[in-house]
Amino acid sequence: MKNIVILISGRGSNMQTIVQKCKAEKWDARISAVISNRADAAGLQFAQEQGIPTAVVSHKGYPDRESYDQSLMAVIDSYRPDVVVLAGFMRILTAGFVEHYMGRLLNIHPSLLPNFRGLHTHQQAIDAGVRIHGATVHFVTPELDGGPIIAQAVVPVMPDDDEDTLADRVLEQEHRIYPRVVKWAVDGLVSMDDDGQAVLAPEVVGGLEFVLVGGGL
Ligand code: GAR
Repeated sequence: MKNIVILISGRGSNMQTIVQKCKAEKWDARISAVISNRADAAGLQFAQEQGIPTAVVSHKGYPDRESYDQSLMAVIDSYRPDVVVLAGFMRILTAGFVEHYMGRLLNIHPSLLPNFRGLHTHQQAIDAGVRIHGATVHFVTPELDGGPIIAQAVVPVMPDDDEDTLADRVLEQEHRIYPRVVKWAVDGLVSMDDDGQAVLAPEVVGGLEFVLVGGGL
């Protein structure tokens, strides 16, 4: 049975869907721990209610990113993870951290990468006037929001959208694609090759359908 460790910073809705799907679909995996850099992350309570071990590794009080990431790695590694899932973990990670987990470290970003890296992605999309937007699940590499793309979901941008309505539409799709990709990782159906490309097993390539939701299209 594979060990999944999930890192959060806040609400944890992506973490919740992964926990729920893991249980409902009887994955050959367990959520070994949910770890937050913030003690007030709302998602921690959900994890505790599910009987999942939780840990808080606060980023406060560390002199630099390297020393924080070393402490975080020690906690993560105590759970012997096969897959490490960043689910709204709002920290820039050091190269040492990323290299340690390379090929088993996943992230979801709320945009169609390589567009709109960083923060406020929904406002960035509205400001850019794009008609489609979405979410991306990718392997994490030292380049911020730059790792190889595994799956994307697409939604329309509607004329009356604001940051919140667009975020809600994207989040719904995040909850569809992220559990699916985590399961692929658990089942060994997705990997990162030596050239830093995501490689999908033939049986899951068909799982990358476009998702268009909302009225008017
Ligand atoms: C999600 O929208 C996720 O894509 C985003 O934070 C939100 C977390 O929500 N992640 C990033 O912006 C990473 N750069 P959640 O805590 O409810 O899963």
